[in-house]
Amino acid sequence: MVEDVVNPRRAAVAPAPGLGPQKLTEIEVGTEDRLRLDNLEFERVLGGGVVPGSLVLIGGDPGIGKSTLLLQMSADVAATVPVLYISGEESVAQIKTRAMRVSNGARPAEHLYLAAETDVDRVVGQIEALAPKLAIIDSIQTVHSADIPSAAGSISQVRECASRLQALAKSSGVAIFLAGHVTKDGAIAGPRVLEHLVDTVLYLEGDPYHSYRLLRTVKNRYGATTEVGVFKMGASGLVEVANPSEAFLAERRKGAPGSAIAVTMEGSRPLLVEVQGLTSPTTFGHPRRTANGVDINRLLIITAVLTRRVGLQLSDQDIFINVVGGLQVREPAADLALAAAIASSARDRALPPDLALIGEVGLSGELRRVPRLEARLREAIKLGFSSIVVPKGADPGWDLPSKPKLHEMAGLSEALEFALKA
Ligand code: TYD
Ligand code: MG
Repeated sequence: MVEDVVNPRRAAVAPAPGLGPQKLTEIEVGTEDRLRLDNLEFERVLGGGVVPGSLVLIGGDPGIGKSTLLLQMSADVAATVPVLYISGEESVAQIKTRAMRVSNGARPAEHLYLAAETDVDRVVGQIEALAPKLAIIDSIQTVHSADIPSAAGSISQVRECASRLQALAKSSGVAIFLAGHVTKDGAIAGPRVLEHLVDTVLYLEGDPYHSYRLLRTVKNRYGATTEVGVFKMGASGLVEVANPSEAFLAERRKGAPGSAIAVTMEGSRPLLVEVQGLTSPTTFGHPRRTANGVDINRLLIITAVLTRRVGLQLSDQDIFINVVGGLQVREPAADLALAAAIASSARDRALPPDLALIGEVGLSGELRRVPRLEARLREAIKLGFSSIVVPKGADPGWDLPSKPKLHEMAGLSEALEFALKA
């Protein structure tokens, strides 16, 4: 038996004057004065600058570049308004060294304040005392509240500290950015528990062995969630990549068998990537399938379709797939390029260098239409691809900058026959 206190039912209360329901048509929307950034990719991903009083979470694997990106942004904003960068991971001297490195010899930002602090009460105290326009907490896993017995980084600590900072952001109008580490095994409370609490969630991702980084919006109360920013990690921090397709195709060897160009969408932005395939005779037993940059299950499906519907002999071949640049391609629209890369390697015949391939592959070997085809075609044309294989039924009525040769194909086997006939 558990005792339960019965609360007396409370009477309804009339809204305070001016706080009752308002007509939608009569509500005035002020143009929020967002903080602008020099880093236009970052600004765009945020939906057009930093909103005062917002709480933003930047998640990502350890070492991917969150601190670097946040420090660069701080230095950027601190040229005009005060910014407080609070780190629980590095000393102020370490942060300064990094700031000097990423500033590329430029004069350090005038209004940038650094602090090393992990106690959430003192973090709040520092922000209140300095009253900056922007505060960075790096990382949320290192701050802790004395009220909660568990260790810093545990779910209850992370949640409690983040809600303190959320309340502070709302009451003071300071924009607060939190860095949060994600761990694959989930041993440490990941930033996922915070997603409902914050206004904006961004993820910084990329292959640690490659220099490209994608900054993706997962949630945004102040803008679209389809934005993706592309950066490159260099000797002086993260640099915006203005033309990602060009960057991803820069090292391509034209006329090599096993190389196919896919046009995928990263958010609302089309991106051309090179998919490489290699088939090689299996030395013993079971043939291997290895996928780097695409889902292994997608590779298995495409392999099965190639075997059954196209008649390609792959049961005695190991298959390796690699997406150049360390990019992860999740979209089915890249299926055709994946299939073409495998077929091109298996037949040891190169695809035409100016050919791009767009289309989802179905289990019956049919090519299925993909969304945003016009945007994809524009990007491919911009990069000089004059011949593009698309699924049948593509609308010819588009106003494209130049007329590429569009090869409409209904099935995978006819598309491959066309692409490999040269
Ligand atoms: P960091 O921002 O510390 O990652 P996170 O905060 O997400 O854990 O980035 C660390 C990596 O970035 C580290 O491996 C070194 C590299 N790096 C550069 O290559 N160039 C630079 O200018 C900086 C500052 C870091
Ligand atoms: Mg860090």
